[in-house]
Amino acid sequence: MAETHRPPEQFTLRLRRYDPESGDAPYWDEHTIELEPHRSVLEGILQAKAKFDGSIGIRCSCRAAICGSCGVRINGEPGLACHTHLDHARAYAKDGVIEVEPMGNMPVIKDMIVDMDAVHWKKVKRVTPWLLNEGPQPEREHIVPRESMVDITQTMACIQCGACVSDCLAMEVDPGFIGPAALAKAYRFVGDPRDEEQRERLIDLSQDPLGIYDCTHCFKCVQACPKDVNPMGQIMRLRRIAGSDQKIVDQNNGHRHEETITTLIKGYGLLHEAEMLPRSYGGNSWFGKFHPAAGKELLSSLPVVLRALVKRKVNPKIAMFGHKIPRQDLNAVKKIYEKVESRPTRYELNLYVTGYDEDVEEPVASVVAGNAQSVPQSTEGSTN
Ligand code: SF4
Ligand code: SF4
Ligand code: FES
Repeated sequence: MAETHRPPEQFTLRLRRYDPESGDAPYWDEHTIELEPHRSVLEGILQAKAKFDGSIGIRCSCRAAICGSCGVRINGEPGLACHTHLDHARAYAKDGVIEVEPMGNMPVIKDMIVDMDAVHWKKVKRVTPWLLNEGPQPEREHIVPRESMVDITQTMACIQCGACVSDCLAMEVDPGFIGPAALAKAYRFVGDPRDEEQRERLIDLSQDPLGIYDCTHCFKCVQACPKDVNPMGQIMRLRRIAGSDQKIVDQNNGHRHEETITTLIKGYGLLHEAEMLPRSYGGNSWFGKFHPAAGKELLSSLPVVLRALVKRKVNPKIAMFGHKIPRQDLNAVKKIYEKVESRPTRYELNLYVTGYDEDVEEPVASVVAGNAQSVPQSTEGSTN
């Protein structure tokens, strides 16, 4: 049914204003504009700029969610100003006033314009964002298997808006972290069969303390992305290929840490925190704690552990013997492991491409949100 035309309404915008060159502190500035409710927050800002104050700083170009230049925070959440309806933004505003401020984790140039060069583009450059292929070129084009392209389509949808960077919790505490957008870009080339330096790229991203193992799985980039690129998912794919397929032993103990979590949950049904550190450093077994590397780490964390015990944040019995969950629950957890581990192939979920491909033979599993890519468990370096 065609949408009924809705007349213009008044919307109040609260804009974060800041000019670092002025030496003044940031402040909030309110303007009431009048537009149809389905029009965008960007149109509202542009109207305020045209009618009330030409000095309002906002960056935009396409106004159609394609160029990625109008990334801002609206009511505290990152998004594209041109892709957010005024009525929707008002419905989520805490006091009916739409709050717009610059994206996080990047320095402000003016008002809602951030310095993308200083953070976002610098990090994208860090991952060598082009195809590395010096070999003999085909007479015409490279023929790439269709499923390989499907596999990287999701990362190719990135419009470089920086919304994921804005909300990344790891970057907030560790600004050096390569970050979600750049790592999603890295997967775009690691997953491309034409690229000849897949392993070198993976070694580089694994060994860098600010690389793939610095992500904390917080899901913020997944929620923030207006194009469903799923940056965290791409980082996890990089980790699986680097650690599980290519057996890259990283100096950050990142892969061993992941394996430890998996092993402990399989054994106890819940995380056994006291075993985490020694196994991550000393080896993924009960004997890990006797490895010199684990001993060194245990010694250095002793003050923290003692403080936690004194403040009763740690239960000594659970610390020693781990959590105990009912036997039937533990069996249910083990069954999940058996099911996953007995699969001949690993399923890579690609939530961006939807629909079914009837030509592809088994095993392609349909999932709620789209297609599943299958990866042979034993294939070294294969991404499709
Ligand atoms: S999941 Fe990882 S990359 Fe994404 S926002 Fe969280 S810490 Fe950053
Ligand atoms: S991954 Fe998504 S949120 Fe991040 S820069 Fe690309 S389009 Fe924007
Ligand atoms: S103006 Fe291009 S994405 Fe918003």
